[in-house]
Amino acid sequence: MEHILLRDLDIPDIWQFDTYLANGGYEGLKHAVKHSPSEVIQIVLDANLRGRGGAGFSTGRKWSFIPQDAAIKYVVVNADESEPGTFKDRQLLEHNPHQVIEGALIAAYAIQAAAVYIYARGEFWDLSYALEDHIDEARQANLLGENILGSGWSCDVFVHRGAGAYICGEESALLNSLQGLLGQPRVRPPFPAQVGGGLYYQPTVVNNVETLANVPWIMLNGADAYKAIGTPESPGPKIFCVSGHAARPGNYELPLGTTFRELIFEHAGGVRDGKALKAILPCGASGPVLPATDDVLDTPLTYEAVTKLGSTLGSASVILMDENTDMVWAAARMVHFFRHESCGKCTPCREGTFWLERVYERLLRGEGTPRDLEILESVPRQMTGVTLCALGDFAASPVLGTLQHFRDEYERYVGISAPEAEAVAEEAVPVEAGAGGEL
Ligand SMILES: Cc1cc2nc3c(=O)[nH]c(=O)nc-3n(C[C@H](O)[C@H](O)[C@H](O)COP(=O)(O)O)c2cc1C
Ligand code: SF4
Repeated sequence: MEHILLRDLDIPDIWQFDTYLANGGYEGLKHAVKHSPSEVIQIVLDANLRGRGGAGFSTGRKWSFIPQDAAIKYVVVNADESEPGTFKDRQLLEHNPHQVIEGALIAAYAIQAAAVYIYARGEFWDLSYALEDHIDEARQANLLGENILGSGWSCDVFVHRGAGAYICGEESALLNSLQGLLGQPRVRPPFPAQVGGGLYYQPTVVNNVETLANVPWIMLNGADAYKAIGTPESPGPKIFCVSGHAARPGNYELPLGTTFRELIFEHAGGVRDGKALKAILPCGASGPVLPATDDVLDTPLTYEAVTKLGSTLGSASVILMDENTDMVWAAARMVHFFRHESCGKCTPCREGTFWLERVYERLLRGEGTPRDLEILESVPRQMTGVTLCALGDFAASPVLGTLQHFRDEYERYVGISAPEAEAVAEEAVPVEAGAGGEL
């Protein structure tokens, strides 16, 4: 199948402006400005494009929430990409950047925004500088700037680099950071689409890089063609980032609805060194782990089907864990990550991640007691659904997920001596996640 998103795999130099133009580039934008803004929103609504940043929220609906009479509106492209095991947005921005810029401009036209800000994670140095050059090329061709393509609408695009904080991927923390404030989530409502809730408190659409990369294709090919890919509730292509103990880790663009089994064994080459697959993290560190049973492997990768399994598709960063993975050690690494990344604004998340990490340290030192398992059962439940942003829930999920499916491994750590605990932990095989973090 020809790629819709990772077009660099079919046309390696598509990052170049001329190559992009020669291959239909910016035709989606030209098509869009011939329609009214509300018609553009309707096309994206009809396509049922769902946000690829994690929540899977309807993109067209998000755009339609923007009050049309507001004087100042913004589009913000979320390129913070910090979830462990997620490295799709980086490939898109490095190798097919004009498609993201074009998608963001179509979004900006749809809500009549005066500016687009691309918020890139702090480590994306080279990529950010290159993006500025790509934006300049588009500006010179009047694809952005004043009176774009003679439409009477003007809009500029700017790149802003964060400082490398996971929490700044959360949209309201991102907006604070972009404004020069402390990168902590805001109390909502007001939501970003509302007056008072967006960038500089003006109505703002925040979309993920991959979400926007879908939009030019939808504009050119129509909603029905888009819905012919994937499943009715989760249409379109998706980039699955496969990492961990995979034989062929990497980004795979496949229709939503592809099963775990097809993704892992047909595309990613199965588990490295011929080992058995023990567990799967479907969305990096932020959703519960799944045991690699036949039922799970035959589940389609859609927003609704993975939710039914008790986990979440999120940004679809699929981390594989082989038969030698120590699930207590793995959960401890993820809890460490969230403790480090918690912004500290809400007590359950700030204190909960701190104490959870202490319990894991105790278990791994061989000082665990049955009481520690009770604490691991109760603390995450007190962090779930009660915090300002979803990081509190994310931090609870590695604990609850591993306890649910691999409780026997926790019991091995209770009531054993320090040297015994060391021996158990030494068997653990490090799980190399992708570019995202230190899992
Ligand atoms: C802790 C946390 C981190 C997040 N990190 C990212 C991120 O790195 N990139 C991203 O696109 N969305 C991230 N999100 C989701 C955003 O808040 C937001 O839902 C998303 O950018 C909306 O775009 P979409 O509708 O196109 O998916 C994160 C959410 C949370 C709670
Ligand atoms: S849940 Fe955690 S990361 Fe999110 S606002 Fe509260 S303290 Fe900050």
